[in-house]
Amino acid sequence: MTSNREHWGSRAGFILAAAGSAVGLGNIWKYPHMAGQHGGAAFTMVYLLCILVVGLPILLAELSIGRRTQLNPVGGFSLLSNNSNWKWVGFLGVASAFTILSFYSVVGGWTIKYTVLALTGSFGKFSATGAAGDFFDAFVKNPVEPVFWHLVFMGLCVFIIDRGVKAGIERWSKVLMPVLLGILVLLVFRGVTLDGAGAGLRFLFSPKWGDLDASGVVLALGHSFFTISLGMGTMITYGSYLRRESDLIQSALWIVALDTFIALMAGIAIFTAVFALGQNPAEGPGLIFVVLPSLFPHMPGGQFFAALFFFLLFVAALTSAISILEVVTAYFIDEKGWSRTRATNTFGAIIASIGVLASLSNGNYNVLSPVTDLTFMDLLDKASSKYMLPLGGMLTAVFVLTRWGVDHFRDEIKSGAKWFQLNKQVITIIFVIASLVVAYIFASELVALFR
Ligand code: TRP
Repeated sequence: MTSNREHWGSRAGFILAAAGSAVGLGNIWKYPHMAGQHGGAAFTMVYLLCILVVGLPILLAELSIGRRTQLNPVGGFSLLSNNSNWKWVGFLGVASAFTILSFYSVVGGWTIKYTVLALTGSFGKFSATGAAGDFFDAFVKNPVEPVFWHLVFMGLCVFIIDRGVKAGIERWSKVLMPVLLGILVLLVFRGVTLDGAGAGLRFLFSPKWGDLDASGVVLALGHSFFTISLGMGTMITYGSYLRRESDLIQSALWIVALDTFIALMAGIAIFTAVFALGQNPAEGPGLIFVVLPSLFPHMPGGQFFAALFFFLLFVAALTSAISILEVVTAYFIDEKGWSRTRATNTFGAIIASIGVLASLSNGNYNVLSPVTDLTFMDLLDKASSKYMLPLGGMLTAVFVLTRWGVDHFRDEIKSGAKWFQLNKQVITIIFVIASLVVAYIFASELVALFR
């Protein structure tokens, strides 16, 4: 079954696809608004530390489970543990894929709508105070428009995933990632050349530790996970399309470096503009859809940069969304013998339907309204980012330590690596620390839930 598995065409193709998965709404939408609310530079420092201490080891664990077994997460855990209950960690991953993609795609739809708005010259009307916020509010509550754009977004995901690993994911990532980098460079250039940009740079890079609160630390930990696409088997799945001779360490370093670099660039582009135009960085989730649209009309070339910015956000979201759909697809191909087309169409349609409920929940049709104030969309977001992903990631680290074994894991990363020095003890310590850190995030979220 695994001998005719499709593989990536080249190392660069794999790195771009995996970086495409990692770089998404997490980098350009979530990171800036969280940093804005939780102390800017201090938050950034904690986030960078977490990437090194937790993100990198778990990324290596996922890639090596995938490459070793050449299977999806369920098959991978199952094969390495002799079909034990560890396969449930794989199932948790597949379930997380449904949960994440159904709200992620709704936001993906918003990015298309805003790109269209900017292209058709409608951003001018956002220059009036409050106009951008009122517009955004009315738009997300509308029962038809955001649903339509969400379906367009899901349709694109299905279209790309249906083409397969090389002709779909890899080919599109090789086009879209350079486009993303190019646009980002332009936006950073626009940002830092605005009068008063320095205040934004100081906010992002010169830490005032007093501004960082405990919830900021937990968020930074959780985010270091989300941003590299860990905890649900995405990187197991992408690793399973690697050949044995590939260098896992080098690839992992590239993925993490690109992801971090792009998050920081997005932070620079956004906060230079926010500070130069005297806005509040602590706006929260509306930072991108409310504050930025109200800034663009006041900036030279604003309409043009607005279109570029939202197209950038769309591209980033698309290459991440496909990596989530691929987890479900790979599972049904490997374990159930389905054809790729049948798997993508079926699950694309199911996820799209859940997403419709998520989108409607922002307006008058929240399926949860009889029981709680929380919208269904928020529930999907919170359940996955706060509980399912950290749990999946922690169990992956514990799996390496207690079931697969550090020796086997070490052999796997060593094969193909140009240099590799770490001995068993050092790896064990790194993984124990990573597991404890994630256990801490998970526990603090649980405590917060019951308080
Ligand atoms: N990493 C992506 C982002 O930053 C989102 C994402 C894609 C993801 N695949 C994932 C998050 C798997 C967690 C798990 O937006």
